[in-house]
Amino acid sequence: MEQLLFSPLKIRDLTLKNRIAISPMSQHMATGGVPTNWHLVHVGQFALGGAALVLMESTAVSAEGMSGHDDIGLWTDEQENAFKPIVAFCHSQQTAIGIQLSHAGRKAGKHALWKGDKPLTLEEMQAVSGSWRRVAPSATAMEGAWTVPHPLTKDEILEVVGSFAYAARRADRAGFDVLELHFAHGYLVAQFLSPLTNLRGDEYGGSIENRMRLAIEIVSAVRRHWPASKPLICRISAVDGGGAQGWTLEDSVLFARVLKQHGVDVIDCSSGGIAQSPTASARGLGFQVPYASRIRLGADICVQAVGFIIDPEQAEEILRNGDADLVAIGREALFDPYWPNHTKAAMDKKSQFVGWPEPYRMWLQKRAPVLADALASVREDGARKALA
Ligand SMILES: Cc1cc2nc3c(=O)[nH]c(=O)nc-3n(C[C@H](O)[C@H](O)[C@H](O)COP(=O)(O)O)c2cc1C
Repeated sequence: MEQLLFSPLKIRDLTLKNRIAISPMSQHMATGGVPTNWHLVHVGQFALGGAALVLMESTAVSAEGMSGHDDIGLWTDEQENAFKPIVAFCHSQQTAIGIQLSHAGRKAGKHALWKGDKPLTLEEMQAVSGSWRRVAPSATAMEGAWTVPHPLTKDEILEVVGSFAYAARRADRAGFDVLELHFAHGYLVAQFLSPLTNLRGDEYGGSIENRMRLAIEIVSAVRRHWPASKPLICRISAVDGGGAQGWTLEDSVLFARVLKQHGVDVIDCSSGGIAQSPTASARGLGFQVPYASRIRLGADICVQAVGFIIDPEQAEEILRNGDADLVAIGREALFDPYWPNHTKAAMDKKSQFVGWPEPYRMWLQKRAPVLADALASVREDGARKALA
């Protein structure tokens, strides 16, 4: 039977060579929002590894929107130019590359997970950038040492919309193939979506239509600056962790329908971030696949499933069941950046390392029969010793 995992997928004018995407993963390795050699190697290894699409990490659309001081950003010429070699390398490996545009809102200003994951003080934020502050739909702070955010005025909301649109234009100029909008994980747009964090009384709060307004304004503005030939993905938290009081799966189905009407091609189905962590380790294999499946069915839109997808058969089954059109891998790709190539070799013994980097392929092809013989004789020796 033909494997779906390695079948192409055409979205607008982009044809992905298989159904495997690398999920966006913040590295906290930038200075002044400018990507570095680290990002070239980090992203480059996934391009060598055979994924069809590498989604670059959460990228701030403005200094105010940074989550951490070491985030990458896309609001200056210097930042825009620094992405170009990364994009070019991916293209040299026939790998599509996307960028995830984000605004952290009230979650702005925190240390990386491995540096304590704690919020910065307002003084520390000011020392990084004079315009860095926490903003949100309403003046509700997160628990612990997080400070109360500034509730955005309507003019400030328009500025946020504009910063997404300008970043989209820069992303196109830098050569990105795909744009992903980060509407998940309790970032600014998710804060507007969730009734737990959006307590506004104006046209941006209250009903679900009002709470979706910022997202739709961003999508519409971005679509005007992002070419019609290029795919637009939205990452959403299918549920925000707040149960029936919060943003629910059925809210996500409705949201996905509206996003589709406004030119979104794929929903990347994550979860949490308002009332729970999106990467809580206690969850099992494919824990977010049911969200993708429901949204795909309910909104008739392409979806990307993500979350503890680690096994080739598991990934193939997700596609075969019609639960998703694409699978994204995150931590498994940190463990094995060659996961797509290894998976292809494991699933198709005759694949002959097709898709592997050109300078490696012939060596691996020549090695394969020699390796098979060597392993067989080791096994024979072992069996003889066991019998002796
Ligand atoms: C190191 C790391 C950084 C992450 N950074 C982001 C990010 O920038 N944007 C985002 O939407 N999700 C981020 N995530 C979540 C992943 O994209 C992914 O959804 C999550 O890890 C679940 O997939 P997995 O089980 O395959 O790792 C991050 C996860 C990890 C492990």
